[in-house]
Amino acid sequence: MKPLKGRVAIVTGASRGIGVPIAMALARRGIRLTLAARSAELLQQTAASIRASTGAHVLAVPTDVTQPEAQDQLIAATLAEFGSIDVLINNAGIVQPAAYEGLALDELEQHLAVNLAAPMALARRVLPHLLAQNRGHIVNIASLGGLLGIAWGESYGATKHGLVGFTRSLRMSCKVSATQVSASVVCPGFIDEVGMYADTALPHGHRAPFVLGTSSPEAVAAAVIRAIERDEPEVIVSSRPVRALLMLGALSPRLLERLCIKLGLHSVFERTARSQGRGR
Ligand SMILES: NC(=O)c1ccc[n+]([C@@H]2O[C@H](COP(=O)([O-])OP(=O)(O)OC[C@H]3O[C@@H](n4cnc5c(N)ncnc54)[C@H](OP(=O)(O)O)[C@@H]3O)[C@@H](O)[C@H]2O)c1
Repeated sequence: MKPLKGRVAIVTGASRGIGVPIAMALARRGIRLTLAARSAELLQQTAASIRASTGAHVLAVPTDVTQPEAQDQLIAATLAEFGSIDVLINNAGIVQPAAYEGLALDELEQHLAVNLAAPMALARRVLPHLLAQNRGHIVNIASLGGLLGIAWGESYGATKHGLVGFTRSLRMSCKVSATQVSASVVCPGFIDEVGMYADTALPHGHRAPFVLGTSSPEAVAAAVIRAIERDEPEVIVSSRPVRALLMLGALSPRLLERLCIKLGLHSVFERTARSQGRGR
């Protein structure tokens, strides 16, 4: 979708982590923003800092994305403030590395609710507005864990694989129904500086395996912009040639499995789970 200037975007998970640079990058492109997350104070701080550095029109709407009434309120507040919605960035997400049998049922349900059900529900709510104006883009922030099987991350991996599959299907429905509305999925690997890996794994010395490396939060933000402007189906954010691994996996799942174990793809999740007493 081009041009981006003057368009309106909702960014979930914008109180901290990767959502903040994503929102900042959109604002720098002249996009007006609604920021959503549960932490009202952090959300206001993000909004204020984006306004101060870009002059953008930014609305902060404290939202628990798992709550249907809060989803409605988020859409309604955005329409009331800006009159339209053009872009939805489903970025809010949670993770808990753990041995799967030790994951509490309510943790599993919360992972499914935040990482998968909420993005799907928000997309469903936003879509009629995008289709009516024949313009708009939905970006779902998944993960490399949505393309590879990462040990000790069953619930996270399931939701992120779900988000990849949902986006592919949604995008194809748009393509075959002759609308200018579209959808993309962005799959980051480990992100340094801010976010869940930087906050929970790095302080304990659990470093990303060499084969995956790390990327900057700004690289995720740039991937989001690229996805919207170039209508990219799927953008991987990684400092390593991860697509080669994925191609190998398409040809031989067993070979990929062996390689992933040998290269220690699971090391961050495993070490984080163990250090939190959540290992096997
Ligand atoms: N960091 C990485 O290395 C990495 C790698 C691959 C993919 N990702 C993906 O990138 C996205 C952002 O992750 P991050 O690293 O920035 O994580 P983060 O620093 O933990 O931030 C998560 C964001 O989601 C929000 N959130 C959580 N539960 C919510 C709920 N019920 N309702 C509304 N907002 C909620 C949080 O805000 P509140 O707590 O204020 O609600 C926060 O703004 C996630 O989807 C994650 O899976 C991250």
